Amino acid sequence: MSAPTHPLLARDLLTVTDLSSTEILGLFGLASRLKADYGSFAGSLAQRSLVLLFEKPSLRTRVTFELGFQKLGGAVCFLDHQGTPIGERETVEDYAGNLSRWADAIAIRCRSHTLLEQFSRAARVPIINALSDLHHPCQALADLFTLVEAGIPLEQLHLAWVGDGNNVCNSLIEAVATLGARMTIVTPEQFRPAESILRRAQARALRSGARIVCTSDCARVDGVHAIYTDVWFSMGEESKAQSKRDALAPYQVDAALMRRAGSQAKFMHCLPARRGEEVTTEVLDSPASIVLDQAENRMHLQNAILLTMLRPDLSALTSDAVALGGAH
Ligand code: CP
Ligand code: NVA
Repeated sequence: MSAPTHPLLARDLLTVTDLSSTEILGLFGLASRLKADYGSFAGSLAQRSLVLLFEKPSLRTRVTFELGFQKLGGAVCFLDHQGTPIGERETVEDYAGNLSRWADAIAIRCRSHTLLEQFSRAARVPIINALSDLHHPCQALADLFTLVEAGIPLEQLHLAWVGDGNNVCNSLIEAVATLGARMTIVTPEQFRPAESILRRAQARALRSGARIVCTSDCARVDGVHAIYTDVWFSMGEESKAQSKRDALAPYQVDAALMRRAGSQAKFMHCLPARRGEEVTTEVLDSPASIVLDQAENRMHLQNAILLTMLRPDLSALTSDAVALGGAH
């Protein structure tokens, strides 16, 4: 994409590390304002267009981008790439060049994060990562917004990730590292998040005061504000190796693990869930579960991103940072 025209966010969002803590808090503030009163933003994205390119299935991401953008008056075009991978019919560069002449922003869900980076280099409009094999930034940002909205101050937040150290986990690590919160990642040794992600996050944590630890011990969830899990087999991993299932079986989030965390602990999941696999139905449907708040907030948070990218005149991020009670 060409040089940024907005001091804060008129650029791509490929990973959470593309944002500063001030920008993230600003997005939380704006998402909160949108959620409270869409009427004040009616028509703010009129004449703007968003293209969605999806190589993988989606419910939440597709619907929240489509309905969210339309709620603000914009037009959305969905291009289904589940059958024909991006870059197969014409080069990524030709594709990105054409789309940049019609769309004001492009959200991409793809098999390989490398393709997202290639697309980003070739495009002349902002690119948003709608999930890649390595990252899911819109999800992680909406999730931390959900926790702040639930009244948990970021400087006290202690989040536990339990299960497979995957793309959602990577983005949560980056968000926690940026915002100075605390995260305990509980996985079998062989399914820990990538060392490169952890190394970069620890470097950020030195600056933000975040505390991020990896363990294989489920007892470490004691006292956390929330336990978060995700499917054991992400899209593209459909071989469902029995050895992975066996290794993860002791990491199922069940009522006993929630009790171990404490009565304050919320349950989180990006969804879709495999009931009876990474989480029991009892926990998923329990009062502690805030999974539908997370799903709803995807729309408000993504709309905050899109407004900031496309209407910086309407989205004063820094002043919004203080508008949300639980934030810094
Ligand atoms: N959480 C999430 O991204 O859901 P979808 O795969 O349905 O979009
Ligand atoms: N880790 C999951 C997230 C789905 C929203 C996947 O990549 O399939």
